[in-house]
Amino acid sequence: LPKVVGRVRDLRAAVAGFRAEGSKVALVPTMGALHVGHMALAEKARELAGRTVVSIFVNPAQFAPHEDFDKYPRALEADLNRLADVGVDLVYAPTATEMYPAGFATRIAVGGPSEGLETDFRPHFFGGVATVVGKLFIQCAPDYAMFGEKDYQQLKVVTRLSKDLDLGVEVVPVPTIREADGLALSSRNAYLDEEQRKVAPVIYAALTRAAEQIRGGTDPQAAVDTASGMISALGLRVDYVAARHAETLAPLKDAKEPIRLLAAAWLGETRLIDNIPV
Ligand code: PAJ
Repeated sequence: LPKVVGRVRDLRAAVAGFRAEGSKVALVPTMGALHVGHMALAEKARELAGRTVVSIFVNPAQFAPHEDFDKYPRALEADLNRLADVGVDLVYAPTATEMYPAGFATRIAVGGPSEGLETDFRPHFFGGVATVVGKLFIQCAPDYAMFGEKDYQQLKVVTRLSKDLDLGVEVVPVPTIREADGLALSSRNAYLDEEQRKVAPVIYAALTRAAEQIRGGTDPQAAVDTASGMISALGLRVDYVAARHAETLAPLKDAKEPIRLLAAAWLGETRLIDNIPV
């Protein structure tokens, strides 16, 4: 099994050892309950750097009080076994008090790509993500950090954060890993019952169809409205289906911009998100 550390000073000592041997270091931040999507990030990390660190921390700062922090799946033993298979060198699994000691009072606020979309429905979310990812980057000081396109807005926010605060970490995007029927892998898929699991791929199906329509000349707003209707028709409650500038995530201004389609919807008590390029 990979070595596990829980303290910032032990993480720093281990990374200093990697540096001393001349290795580049890649960090893969996760909240655990690891699946094949997370493994793709770990494999990409191993490709780019001699040493790979995976962090496992269910970050309370990115959950609102009414959200699923308590029921979020935790599976450290299984996670360590999976990480051993892909040759991860170190796991950093801090406690909440190590990350947020008594008196902790700082929060990182990223503007730009964090405006709209997720923020309209989870206003606390990117403040919590930026704060913990900023801390992880400072604690570990990796050369690279892998982030999944599955959480596309998060990927853009974290890229902005690293640039704006001169954290010196190259944020590397990794394409979304999907089930055979198109459903994006997510730790939250474990919440779905059998019936819901059958319906869940509709989000990807609707986005795929909207992308085809846009490529065929349909107005992007009309195409995402149709997609939203297709998702609602199967009983999901749509938070948003949107067409945005693929890099800035700003609303579309002209027809030549690169477009990303992004969606979030509730299936029962489970909130699912997905996105694709046009
Ligand atoms: P978590 O949901 O555990 O995801 C960790 C990383 O795995 C993220 O970069 C996410 O985009 C990526 N990932 C998840 N599912 C994926 C899939 N199907 N294909 C490709 N990549 C996938 O995202 C978080 O944790 C947290 O917000 C975190 C960044 C760790 C900060 O707390």
